[in-house]
Amino acid sequence: MTRATRATLNLRALQHNLTIARRHAPDSKLMAIIKANGYGHGMIEVAQALNDADAFGVACLDEAIALREAGIPQPIVLLEGFVRADELRLIDGFQLQPVIHHPAQIDMLEASSGPALTVWLKVDTGMHRLGVTPEQVPAILTRLLSCPRVGAVRLMTHLANADDRDDDYTLEQIRRFESLDELSVAARSIANSAGLLGWAQSASDWARPGIMLYGVSPFNNSIGEQHDLRPVMTLRAQLIAINTHKAGEPIGYGGSWRCPEPMPVGVVAIGYGDGYPRHVPSGTPVLLNNKRVPIVGRVSMDMLCLDLRDCPKAAIGDEVILWGEGLPVEAIAEAAGTIGYELLCKVTSRVGFEYTHE
Ligand SMILES: Cc1ncc(COP(=O)(O)O)c(C=O)c1O
Repeated sequence: MTRATRATLNLRALQHNLTIARRHAPDSKLMAIIKANGYGHGMIEVAQALNDADAFGVACLDEAIALREAGIPQPIVLLEGFVRADELRLIDGFQLQPVIHHPAQIDMLEASSGPALTVWLKVDTGMHRLGVTPEQVPAILTRLLSCPRVGAVRLMTHLANADDRDDDYTLEQIRRFESLDELSVAARSIANSAGLLGWAQSASDWARPGIMLYGVSPFNNSIGEQHDLRPVMTLRAQLIAINTHKAGEPIGYGGSWRCPEPMPVGVVAIGYGDGYPRHVPSGTPVLLNNKRVPIVGRVSMDMLCLDLRDCPKAAIGDEVILWGEGLPVEAIAEAAGTIGYELLCKVTSRVGFEYTHE
């Protein structure tokens, strides 16, 4: 790897964040959510580092199979279940646990033969994405429990607004889920990261932390550090040029920013071709020699520019941190009008990944 643009992934921080999740739900089992390539961190490396997790949650069969082929032994839950009957053969073969969110899946289970699976029945308590209604649950549960293809049924739901700690909708969802408390199921699960950190009553038998494991706050008004989380990914690049421009000269495509005075402008070798968001405004910070320095002009595919007026010692070759240690991804996400989840998932394959244990 010759290009200095790289992501360092601190697996010790990842493990630390799992212990924080445990601290919030000491009596719960933890299903670590590692879909979308471990939220962009490298799914296999993340799974290997999180060997204390009680299970893993992924979005699709391909992700689950990749984990099994890498020798990951823990239970693996398919959060979207399956769509076609022939997927059941793979679910059996790789010993996976599908989420059942639609009666059509039960039809397929009933029509198939094979071992008895542990399944997670998803209840729609208000997310209105996947799941059966609380009213449908008793009949569906009876059907599942009498199906020879079903060994154990666990009940789960997903919180829609838990990232807003002032929004009572979460309490309403929990209440709807608790209305099913009388039913006899093997286990229950409600909490994502926001549930774990902000809504203690959602811990239940199993919690399903995702974003917090990567050191990022799930809330819209805090950063990971405030929850004792440590960033796992630090995105780094290098200053490859420093040029002095005259007052009034425009910087980059479209000339959206002009130098207010004669000034040094740094050029950093990273852009949207690496996953850095193109639409952050001028003023969005990077970290240069431990100091926050503003981006000026538009981010281009391979480069972005910095206002170096307050950095007289900046030199070509200096390292620039785009997010991670010392600069929370939450701040960059806010500037980009998105969430940390998206930025982490979108780092492209051109960026070299280095795993550390610091
Ligand atoms: C069903 C389910 N559970 C848990 C999670 C983890 O959520 P978070 O990353 O907010 O902790 C997700 C992520 O989208 C999910 O879809």
